[in-house]
Amino acid sequence: MIPHRLMAPAPGWTLDADIVVVGSGIAGLVAALRARTAGRVLLVTKALLDDGSTRWAQGGIAAALHPDDSPEDHLRDTLTAGVGICDADAVRALVTEGPEAVRGLISLGTEFDRNGDGGIALTREGGHLTHRIAHAGGDATGAEISRALLAATKDAGIEVIEHALVLDLLIADGRAAGVTLHVMGEGQRDGVGSVRARAVILATGGLGQVFQATTNPEVSTGDGLALALRAGAAVADLEFVQFHPTVMWLGPDAKGRQPLISEAVRGEGAFLVDAAGERFMAGRHPLADLAPRDIVAKQIMTRMRATGEPCVYLDGRNLGPRIWAQRFPTILAACERHGVDPVNEPIPVVPAAHYASGGVRTDLRGRTSVPGLYACGEVACTGVHGANRLASNSLLEGLVFAQRIAETLPADLGVGAPAKAGADGALTSRSALLEPAVRGEVQRLMAAYAGVLRSGAGLERAAGELAALAGRTTDRPCTEAWEATNLHSVASLIVDAARRREETRGSHWREDFPDDADAWRGHLVSAFTGEALTTTFEPA
Ligand code: SIN
Repeated sequence: MIPHRLMAPAPGWTLDADIVVVGSGIAGLVAALRARTAGRVLLVTKALLDDGSTRWAQGGIAAALHPDDSPEDHLRDTLTAGVGICDADAVRALVTEGPEAVRGLISLGTEFDRNGDGGIALTREGGHLTHRIAHAGGDATGAEISRALLAATKDAGIEVIEHALVLDLLIADGRAAGVTLHVMGEGQRDGVGSVRARAVILATGGLGQVFQATTNPEVSTGDGLALALRAGAAVADLEFVQFHPTVMWLGPDAKGRQPLISEAVRGEGAFLVDAAGERFMAGRHPLADLAPRDIVAKQIMTRMRATGEPCVYLDGRNLGPRIWAQRFPTILAACERHGVDPVNEPIPVVPAAHYASGGVRTDLRGRTSVPGLYACGEVACTGVHGANRLASNSLLEGLVFAQRIAETLPADLGVGAPAKAGADGALTSRSALLEPAVRGEVQRLMAAYAGVLRSGAGLERAAGELAALAGRTTDRPCTEAWEATNLHSVASLIVDAARRREETRGSHWREDFPDDADAWRGHLVSAFTGEALTTTFEPA
């Protein structure tokens, strides 16, 4: 059974806003900045404002910015990477609005790297047939975007609450009416409280912490997805967890956030080799080392199995010391911290959990199936990623769809009409809160049975172990228990979807069903109705 309720103790304090934005990555900050035309915005975030995934983004942001490129070409590459199940209308919105949205980031103060002629410097990453990736600070694109957006948020005077873990959605008359939060260290607002609002925008990021080794920060515990599930929102494509092919291998017991080696390193000429120094991507795909991510990850796993080695290697010696220092200062420093000198030796790498291509299902305007609840960024499933996200489309998706929500809010909320007071809403009351120690158990079993390579037998075992963990409840609410509960819910949904999908497509790889199947060209969509989880298959 998949638990879908959380005990939220009675709120001790209440705030009012028109729009509450949950999360402070690119999607949350852009939503907060742009939604001000629709009413008073309150931004709440789980840790510090820049503690989410955005600031760790290396490679960049994809958009057809070069005169020789076009949204049509970007559309083609995105659809190819998504292996037949992207929503073409969502992709069209992404790629068409993308270039202007990136220019909007520049207006807000983001400084992208420039060419000698002053144009935006563009690189390549896996699955892109052309140079299309804008970057900043060499390999610190997310940090620069985050810096600029945080400065703009401050200048705009947007009210912010940090250290605020979102718990549940408040629902009144079938509509989202705010959220409950647990706040720590913020004076009068400490403890459990509620924010009443007419619209809730979830921008809570990803769920990588479901796995033992991930590129995601500690805060990426699927809180927004779990909240939406409990509130009855439809979720889709959860089986498509993307594993980044090149994450530094730190040994078999590595846990938590692992050092990412950006695909842009391959974009600048590095290539993969096995322990014997043999290149293994050539001949496997027309784009060789720059094939889409799912294909590269599969080839790496296949080569590791064939050689019995625990990792493969990324050879970037041909880049030379100047490119390493100028283009990849963050990665160079991370390698050096771990005793690897990428200028003179190949970097040991393995695939690791990186990105949820699925999430809370939305329409083209970011609306979820719960009226008044919106989602953007990694927590959302807008349909642009299909079975495998194209590299560097994630920052762009957060940006474009946050703007789309902001554009749609005035009409959706009937701006100009008197604000309807937020009701107290139906707080969930039944406890299914799990012990903090469940987090480690979930990570272990997801790594063992639901990682890059999956099988029916392994997934069945994972489902059994997850069901047993559901009994490890606690009556002591705390951040660690809420996070463990969210991770358990999200893991249970991923395993459920992965068991159902009996084919291999994109980042979902079933060794017992190694081919894609036409009958599976579509989406698994799940939602709770009362206690029951309903999952349906919708053809693409
Ligand atoms: C990378 O720099 O390789 C990651 C970029 C992304 O996930 O799109």
